Amino acid sequence: MTTHTQPPSTRSPGARPARAWLGRRARSLVLVVHILAASAWIGIDVLVAVLVGVGALASDPALRGLAYQALASFVVVPMATAALLTLVSGVLLGLGTRWGLVRYWWVAVKLAMNVLLVVLILVLLRPGMADVGAAGAELAAQGRTGADLSFLVFPPAVSLTMLVLAVVLAVTKPWGRLRQASQT
Ligand code: HEM
Repeated sequence: MTTHTQPPSTRSPGARPARAWLGRRARSLVLVVHILAASAWIGIDVLVAVLVGVGALASDPALRGLAYQALASFVVVPMATAALLTLVSGVLLGLGTRWGLVRYWWVAVKLAMNVLLVVLILVLLRPGMADVGAAGAELAAQGRTGADLSFLVFPPAVSLTMLVLAVVLAVTKPWGRLRQASQT
């Protein structure tokens, strides 16, 4: 397995030099933002998993309803914000250092996962939240709901799995280059 801990400064013969327009300080700043945004995103996903767990398993219907209402009201905007901030700071780090965006497998795979998760949050999760809130209100008021909310287990499960993989890729930087002389 090929691993790197720093952006490589050497290049293959004949290849154009890779641009690294982020200076040391700017790179550190963007990296801090990137790590904080990714950490916040993971934390929000853990919160979603807890709320979904309470909504599904608690014995008190009022508490279950409250958990679903909290999920519907407070979670998606901070999650989408953290996901977009992770994406933007990651793209800046890729473009502004010699890692590139699609030069190394570990960066390209993280880019694909981040874009996929942002699309899932905005296209699948966000539009469904009104129904989740309504089912939560029904549960809290009447002690039961006709809505099947079991699908809610998937968002935190899928997202946490991908985010843990992204952290492992970021730290181990495996698999080397997509193409030997690619400079994109
Ligand atoms: C999917 C969510 C993501 C997570 C959880 C994540 C996590 C991390 C972490 C923890 C680091 C620090 C690794 C270290 O310093 O050893 C890092 C660095 C980095 N990430 Fe991400 N990242 C994500 C998305 C992205 C995206 C979308 C890109 C670019 C398209 C990206 C590009 C980079 C680059 C280039 C570095 C190395 C910066 C440097 O050392 O100069 N990341 N990432």
